[in-house]
Amino acid sequence: MDDITIKLPENYKSIQDASAKIKFSMPSDLKTGSLLRTLIASKPEGQFLELGTGTGLSLSWIVEAMDDKSTVISIDNNELYSAIAKEFFNDDKRVKIICTDATQWLKNNPDLEFDLVFADAWPGKYETLDEALSMVKTGGFYIIDDMLPQSNWPDGHEENVKKLVAHLEQRADLRFTKLNWSTGLIIMTKI
Ligand SMILES: C[S@@+](CC[C@H](N)C(=O)[O-])C[C@H]1O[C@@H](n2cnc3c(N)ncnc32)[C@H](O)[C@@H]1O
Repeated sequence: MDDITIKLPENYKSIQDASAKIKFSMPSDLKTGSLLRTLIASKPEGQFLELGTGTGLSLSWIVEAMDDKSTVISIDNNELYSAIAKEFFNDDKRVKIICTDATQWLKNNPDLEFDLVFADAWPGKYETLDEALSMVKTGGFYIIDDMLPQSNWPDGHEENVKKLVAHLEQRADLRFTKLNWSTGLIIMTKI
């Protein structure tokens, strides 16, 4: 078995080309995308949240696995990235791409609940973490990536990662698995 042969979502290459044109440098790893697609498919009629749309690369894995009754909200505060993502998801009923600050959005929407939250931005991970976790339904997933050292980490970021892991470890309402695979993932289920 190898874990390199991964069938890409239909629109992945086109989004990748558009991302290359603007030199978007923060795409999620293919293995992370593949894992997301697998987990999303386990939640028929699911409601999903992505924090950090970027140009829509990880969103393509999410949307590909969603059934007709599932919906996703994806948030990014960068207008250029959001505009590119919007070009590739012409499905207003199921896919909502919102260009706004995710910290404020998390604070403003405390009553929303999701079957899976993919936190791929600073908000919902290194800040407003409790707000994001409170949106995960019982039995739902909270997923984070980039937990292993990455070339684009700012100086001192290792300390943030350590603190985040320690904080998650002491929460009694999460069952989680750390994966030293892909860019370093933690998969958590709310109990
Ligand atoms: C790691 S990238 C996301 C990559 C994307 N999920 C993908 O797979 O291509 C992080 C994203 O978070 C966005 N971001 C950073 N701070 C933010 C904030 N306060 N609110 C919303 N988005 C933010 C950045 O613009 C960037 O696109």
